[in-house]
Amino acid sequence: MRCVVANWKMHLASDEARAFCEDLLGRFTSEGGTEVGIAPPYTLLHLVSALVRPKGIQVFGQNGHAEAKGAFTGEISMPQLRDAGCSGVLLGHSERRQFFGETDAALAKKVKAAWQWDLLPLLCIGESLAQRDAGQTLEVLGQQLSILAETGPGPLWVAYEPVWAIGTGRRAEAAQVREAHAFIRAELQRHLAGTDYQVPILYGGSVTPESFPELLDIPEVAGGLVGGASLDPRKFAELVRQAG
Ligand code: PGA
Repeated sequence: MRCVVANWKMHLASDEARAFCEDLLGRFTSEGGTEVGIAPPYTLLHLVSALVRPKGIQVFGQNGHAEAKGAFTGEISMPQLRDAGCSGVLLGHSERRQFFGETDAALAKKVKAAWQWDLLPLLCIGESLAQRDAGQTLEVLGQQLSILAETGPGPLWVAYEPVWAIGTGRRAEAAQVREAHAFIRAELQRHLAGTDYQVPILYGGSVTPESFPELLDIPEVAGGLVGGASLDPRKFAELVRQAG
């Protein structure tokens, strides 16, 4: 199964989101079995869900709180994401880890909360440039995946996103992606041993229609989590077509 997910981050107002969805759907064919998702900002969840879900495109939250409700000003809960039309939620994006202090301990709780509310977690993992330069990449990925020892098994997608490749135009080399994805697959097999969960491993970090075909040729790359290029419906539709 191939998966292509748009991460809009903190971009677009409602008129722009509507125009994007109408343009995308005009280009979109759901043939080929590729799972397509969009992770809009919270204010756009209802609008985007109403437009794209009837066409089989999934909607993801960009984050979710572990508690179902409570005094957590500025947060959004998993049941609220469901109520707004989400079927999944991005968890552990490097921008959440880097700018909002998201820890692996918090993420373990969030993954469990997502499962409790029937949301598919798209767990993002990846090393910083300093960690790569220090030869710690696989250790970091192993640590970030070790939350699965605490959560136990469940339905999951994983995105490998080297932090230094996000929004920089600097995509990881094929050999680096191959090594990371093979390692992630082995770790997932260990954590999910004896279960039937099929976990696609997406690549993220400066994915464009120019780079995506080469990435898709790498073993264990099941698709892409796309930031910048996903804000252009023509490019996003092309990425979906390439994955099909
Ligand atoms: P990018 O972002 O495609 O703009 O590098 C990817 C991401 O942060 O998920």
